[in-house]
Amino acid sequence: MDDVVLKISDVHKSFGAIHALKGVDFELKRGEIHALAGENGAGKSTLMNVIDGILAPDSGTIFWNGAAVTIASPTEAQKLGIGLVHQEIALCPDVSVAENILMPQTNLSRKFFVDYAALEAKAGEVLRQLADIDPRARTGDLSISNQQLVEIAKALTLDCKVLILDEPTAALTEREAQLLFGIMRRLADQGIGIIYISHRMVEIFDNCDRVTVFRDGSYITTMDVAQITPPDVVKAMVGRVIDDLYPAKQAEPDDNVILSVRDLSEATRFRDVSFDLHHGEVLGIAGLIGAGRSEIVKGICRIEGEVTGEVRLNGKALTLRDYGDSIDAGMVYLSEDRKGSGLFLDMSIAENISALDLSRISRRGGMIDSRGERERARALGERLGLKYGKLTDPVSSLSGGNQQKVAIAKMLSVDPDLIFLDEPTRGVDVGAKAEIHRILRDLARSGVGIVVISSELPELIGLCDRILVIREGRISGEVAGDDMTEEAIMSLASVLEHEGADA
Ligand SMILES: Nc1ncnc2c1ncn2[C@@H]1O[C@H](COP(=O)(O)OP(=O)(O)OP(=O)(O)O)[C@@H](O)[C@H]1O
Ligand SMILES: [Mg+2]
Repeated sequence: MDDVVLKISDVHKSFGAIHALKGVDFELKRGEIHALAGENGAGKSTLMNVIDGILAPDSGTIFWNGAAVTIASPTEAQKLGIGLVHQEIALCPDVSVAENILMPQTNLSRKFFVDYAALEAKAGEVLRQLADIDPRARTGDLSISNQQLVEIAKALTLDCKVLILDEPTAALTEREAQLLFGIMRRLADQGIGIIYISHRMVEIFDNCDRVTVFRDGSYITTMDVAQITPPDVVKAMVGRVIDDLYPAKQAEPDDNVILSVRDLSEATRFRDVSFDLHHGEVLGIAGLIGAGRSEIVKGICRIEGEVTGEVRLNGKALTLRDYGDSIDAGMVYLSEDRKGSGLFLDMSIAENISALDLSRISRRGGMIDSRGERERARALGERLGLKYGKLTDPVSSLSGGNQQKVAIAKMLSVDPDLIFLDEPTRGVDVGAKAEIHRILRDLARSGVGIVVISSELPELIGLCDRILVIREGRISGEVAGDDMTEEAIMSLASVLEHEGADA
């Protein structure tokens, strides 16, 4: 089997009491795109960290081109030709894009003189295939999606033989994702083996050759994508079939208005935004990255920006100075950036879930009922299928998707009147995704306002009753019912088609 470049055999890894990898196997051939699937906490990222030399396995063997190897550090992994794009963005925010891309190269080089000009040209070239990003820009100033693209460019400049992408599209738009898939296929055609981790079945089925499934730290199966359908993968992942990813929609529109926004404007980021959210309705917000979706919602909650315009919640005009006022008024925001502002990674799961609540309680000089907090955290966690050791464990010890579940539980624990959710199911596995959709629908039915921003159009269409489309800081249109198609939304969202129409 000389076309197998990487083979994993019987690898075990534990973190304290958590047995994250229970003797897993995995095999990657040259020139194939091999998907790795499994529920949140199944052990996917842990295995990738073992392959990249970040974690030492407790036991088991890694074969590289047929020979057993020990990979003791990421630098050693890079020397072999392994490039890993991490699930969580791990760039240095304070240096330029080019410096971030070139960092592994300069580390690797044993030479005294590094040809920076050549390296920078290479960085620019790789980056250009993916996006319009200035290599000299400060990395921290880029949007999350652009930072993700920089991470990918960084791995692509390594000339690797094995490329690992751990949920690379979670923060990308459809268009950016398609660009990435094109690049992946070109690399595979050149003989590079690619491991592709994703919770999106469409991506696996459109782009991958084989799929391996892990469940609870164990290897389950490897299948040829051409010979199976998505339910086969879901069944291997979850152990059962999930047929209703989206709950039933609102039977009839309700005229009662929960949220009314009028003429909301901000200096540069959005203008004249007016819309209503009705009782019982799940409202979606679509648009390209950078169109102003998150900015508008953050403006409504006064999280950022000098905002003018009127916001009414359940008939009452709100005067908000900051986000604290917004929480007090009953409006909360689930950030798309769970690392930046969504969660306190070093704090425990229980403390995170009650963090918003605590700020309200202490504001009012009340007492903290920590047993009650824990009970509620436990109940919410259970409902979302949160996989953890103890509720007192730090959130940083959770897998990516499980961190997202904590962020959602944190929102729900305050009993808000209105929730804005920014990419709520990013990185969440199919089962939990269906559960989150059900929770949101139940909340809407019970009278809580639900507004969802998502870059995943099938999710918006499946979940929402109505979708507002944002283009260049304005509402460019809305679609509802049977008119909610990907084509209709894309044409309202895309700048090019409208420039043509306006001319
Ligand atoms: N540093 C750590 N300390 C303690 N536990 C950890 C650590 N890293 C991972 N784990 C645990 O190991 C298990 C596997 O986690 P891993 O990140 O590999 O999951 P995953 O399959 O990548 O999930 P996701 O789809 O959510 O990213 C989880 O139960 C997680 O909580
Ligand atoms: Mg992971």
